[in-house]
Amino acid sequence: MPDLQEPIAIISDVHANLEALTAVIDDIRAQNIETVYNLGDTVGYGPDPEACIDLVDAACRITLCGNHDYAVLFDADGFNLVARKSIECHRRRLQPDPGNRDPVASWRWKWLSELEPMFEQGGFEAMHGSPRQPITEYVLPSDPENDPLKLAEIYLAMSCSLAFVGHTHFPGVLEEGNDSFIPPFAVGDCYRPVNSRRAIVNVGSVGQPRDRNSRSCYVVYNGECVRYRRIAYDVEKTVKKVLAIPEIHPASGLRLRDGR
Ligand SMILES: [Fe+2]
Repeated sequence: MPDLQEPIAIISDVHANLEALTAVIDDIRAQNIETVYNLGDTVGYGPDPEACIDLVDAACRITLCGNHDYAVLFDADGFNLVARKSIECHRRRLQPDPGNRDPVASWRWKWLSELEPMFEQGGFEAMHGSPRQPITEYVLPSDPENDPLKLAEIYLAMSCSLAFVGHTHFPGVLEEGNDSFIPPFAVGDCYRPVNSRRAIVNVGSVGQPRDRNSRSCYVVYNGECVRYRRIAYDVEKTVKKVLAIPEIHPASGLRLRDGR
């Protein structure tokens, strides 16, 4: 198993939700964890893309590229209306105007354009989507039942026995040889990966949880054990901010109340 010098925190899918990100970073700091990795989708959906980029850059050792980050840079083809509206809004806010030489705006755009798709470190690999297609592919809770062949190919694409992903906003673990998805409540206090069995750990979402739990989700990993953390934040403050921005679809905020 990976030989980590100290526990690390892995976050994902912040989605421009500053209240959620701040609460999660505070929780990480309260545990004296210094190393934070962010698996992407820092932008998209929420009201605060600029502030979230700034905070993530300050707090995270590595930030990866998610499909929403990529879409803000390039295009929003294939996204549904709710996602597309926020992507286009965030592009307008983040892309520096050629006539405006604001160095901070230029820096944020450059930061977004330089995000890597994956990394491997300390015996594990990490990406936004899947080990096979790191930015776009979903590893779904239903895959063991509905598409075992896809899952087998994804396991074969892994270069380590343990991978951390985000993207679906559904926290939980998929294990080679286990034909069901293991949600956090079934993981219990601690999920212990073993070298002999490849495993994909979805760390959940900080800023847009979708598992009917409004609290932010992330994981702490110490080289032996993965622990899920759920953190309450001021959901109503974020909802109010979203509703005040006409370019962002109201559903991007309203769904936060129920975590769906
Ligand atoms: Fe996402």
